[in-house]
Amino acid sequence: MHKISIIGAGMTGATAAHWLAEREFADIVLVDVVEGMPQGKALDLLEAMPIIGKDAEIVGANDYAATEGSDIVIITAGIARKPGMSRDDLLKTNAGIVGTAATESLKHSPDAIFIVLTNPLDTMAYLTLKKTGLPRERVIGQAGILDSARMRAFVALETGVSVENINCYVLGGHGDEMVPLTRHSNIAGVPLKEYLPAEKLEAIVNRTRKGGGEIVNLLKTGSAYYAPAAACAQMAEAILKDKNLIVPCAAYMQGEYGLNDMYFGVPVTLGRGGMKKIIEYKLDDDETAMFNKSAASVKETHEALKNVVEL
Ligand SMILES: NC(=O)c1ccc[n+]([C@@H]2O[C@H](COP(=O)([O-])OP(=O)(O)OC[C@H]3O[C@@H](n4cnc5c(N)ncnc54)[C@H](O)[C@@H]3O)[C@@H](O)[C@H]2O)c1
Repeated sequence: MHKISIIGAGMTGATAAHWLAEREFADIVLVDVVEGMPQGKALDLLEAMPIIGKDAEIVGANDYAATEGSDIVIITAGIARKPGMSRDDLLKTNAGIVGTAATESLKHSPDAIFIVLTNPLDTMAYLTLKKTGLPRERVIGQAGILDSARMRAFVALETGVSVENINCYVLGGHGDEMVPLTRHSNIAGVPLKEYLPAEKLEAIVNRTRKGGGEIVNLLKTGSAYYAPAAACAQMAEAILKDKNLIVPCAAYMQGEYGLNDMYFGVPVTLGRGGMKKIIEYKLDDDETAMFNKSAASVKETHEALKNVVEL
């Protein structure tokens, strides 16, 4: 069995453990600062294994010793966005939490691949890369799978077609400026633009962009966790099974799409070793303009990070 450690056993971390345990390809360690909580959640999940007929070891801990030798470290520790709170408000608090989670995890798992979820996502992935000094292949942010899944779900609701036939690609930063690529999205090969009237498609794009906020407003406390957690389970599985799965993720840019020294949501190939490749779509003028707007917004948060922590 592989070993996956999840730092932050809150809603997203614990739900990721749940999805991962069901997939039965890794033992799981949940780490959190709250005493007893990760141990309790891990034990509860472990006791579900006989019922669902899966064999996975699941343990909880308040320190990093239990994470020793992990293949993957998933970072979900941090403060969740509250109603009315922008992603950027989270920056300072979460930078301290994620920085420690990354460096402490690396001490115990020098070969691990890091999947970062804590918001503001692109910037927390950037921080993890800088703090650990790892190559970019081993530090990947989760955002695009979730944003694309939201768009796929909305298209399915509108058309009644199976989600399995619906391919959507949402790129860019994980914020309101994200870039749903309608030209590249399709239903069983038929471009979305041909399938749906323009106003319906526009409504879906807008709902996707505000997908996180819609759930925050409904929940009142906390933010989405089922879909984000499922997205990180898919990433972990693709990496550990060397699937060469192409999905949108936040990746460190080194000239791709004309961007440098920043994290940004782009299609990548996930397999053994982490992010194997960034795939470059040919963008038209409108898409390029949206890309640049989103990149400028992410860059701004990266710059803000440099004012609150030493990298
Ligand atoms: N990228 C995405 O798509 C995405 C999706 C969902 C959530 N998130 C982000 O993930 C983070 C967690 O969200 P959540 O809903 O699980 O929140 P949550 O409050 O339920 O869980 C966060 C957990 O982190 C723990 N924690 C705090 N400081 C810690 C530390 N120093 N070490 C270890 N654990 C620590 C808390 O005790 C808590 O249990 C938030 O920043 C949220 O915005 C991102």
